[in-house]
Amino acid sequence: MKVAVIGTGYVGLVTGTCLAETGNEVVCVDIDEQKVESMKNGMVPIYEPHLDVLFHRNIKAGRLTFTTSLEDGLEHGEIVFLALPTPEGEDGSADLKYVLGVADEIGRLLRDYKVIVDKSTVPVGTAEKVRNVISENTNVEFDVVSNPEFLREGFAVDDFLKPERIVVGSTSERAIKLMKKLYRPYVRSGNPILIMDEKSAELTKYAANSFLATKITFMNEIANFCERVGADVDMVRRGMGTDSRIGKRFLFPGIGYGGSCFPKDVKALHKSGGESNYDFAILEAVIKVNQSQKTILLPKMKNHFNGRLKGKKIAVWGLAFKPETDDIREAPALYMIEELLDEGAIVQAYDPEAMDNVQKVFGDRIYFGKSMYEAAEDADALLICTEWSIFRTPDFTKLEGKLKGPIIFDGRNLYDTEDLQNLGFTYYSIGRKD
Ligand code: UGA
Repeated sequence: MKVAVIGTGYVGLVTGTCLAETGNEVVCVDIDEQKVESMKNGMVPIYEPHLDVLFHRNIKAGRLTFTTSLEDGLEHGEIVFLALPTPEGEDGSADLKYVLGVADEIGRLLRDYKVIVDKSTVPVGTAEKVRNVISENTNVEFDVVSNPEFLREGFAVDDFLKPERIVVGSTSERAIKLMKKLYRPYVRSGNPILIMDEKSAELTKYAANSFLATKITFMNEIANFCERVGADVDMVRRGMGTDSRIGKRFLFPGIGYGGSCFPKDVKALHKSGGESNYDFAILEAVIKVNQSQKTILLPKMKNHFNGRLKGKKIAVWGLAFKPETDDIREAPALYMIEELLDEGAIVQAYDPEAMDNVQKVFGDRIYFGKSMYEAAEDADALLICTEWSIFRTPDFTKLEGKLKGPIIFDGRNLYDTEDLQNLGFTYYSIGRKD
């Protein structure tokens, strides 16, 4: 099939590349000329495992091309994906200026029937707004479909190629038929394509992300409470997670959720509630708890160093909001670093992928190690903020040799408490006995 993807951010690029992989002819459109030029030259603009292989293969096969011309993209695609940013507006709601701006242009450029697909995470009622904006400028027939994406950064290619479900929000038989045809190769294992009305589809995305954020936050509160009463959150987590109604996944406590999705989406759903006179009390609590969770290790650190972090050198392992990405948006590490700097501490950080991005934020206010061990050199303590695999099994003898003090503050519960104590470390983690 012929597909256009408008917007080559994270979602657009993965969508375009993975749609090309099953033989579709995909044209990706972006207004950023430099980015389009470098993609034409084979440069993948984001780090995402496995994406580069598919990207190069499909460019070579001529199935994946790039342009800055919306007109060309629109002329090419029978299905046109809108994968545009929906940043958090000043009041916490999703800002639709990019989505509606492109919709306005589409209305002016439309020559024949198209299915316009909202892939961005957008509030309930956006498909209707997109339809209205397009209609203002055209009499040509078209359909607007809500098709939220459920990709996880770090697993996006796999999630796209083998989705647990695909949600299509539309009541147009013509559009539904085309969407089913497009997605059929991805659900050969029998996973469902769920057809529903567009508003339910739009809400499904917010509800799913907010539920997962709530699940994590609930566990973070249980972990905090474990510390008060001397219970072990690992045990509680296992005890809970084996109940299939609860499930094992997304029960891992830590220093809070981050990223470009959960924080923004929880706030946006909370805000939409307010706009419809509905008080989402649970989401308000989730936002508040997550904010304080990001710096939950700070009091422990201060306590350990008798209230003074001034002049202490702290090694930080992990800066990205989660492993397998260079994305630092809303990363708990950044909040911790900011607090540490405020306290007068010296920060030496290491992350396998995200150091360039973090340098743009902190400049020369923090130091970076070329390796995880170099970052630990002469540090008074080590703080772990992201659970990259290489941090799971360090050479503890080497680490101990580098650190001034064998002290670890672990925001991701990577190690066994007893093991670390036996190795001679003072070990603080989340929701377990220190
Ligand atoms: C999330 C959803 O999982 C995707 O389904 C969705 O498509 C995506 O948002 C989106 O809306 O685009 P993502 O933000 O890539 O994906 O990352 P997750 O793997 O979901 O992790 C989010 C945050 O939760 C991370 O900071 C992670 O460290 C934290 N987390 C996750 C925990 O603290 N504990 C857990 O048990 C799981």
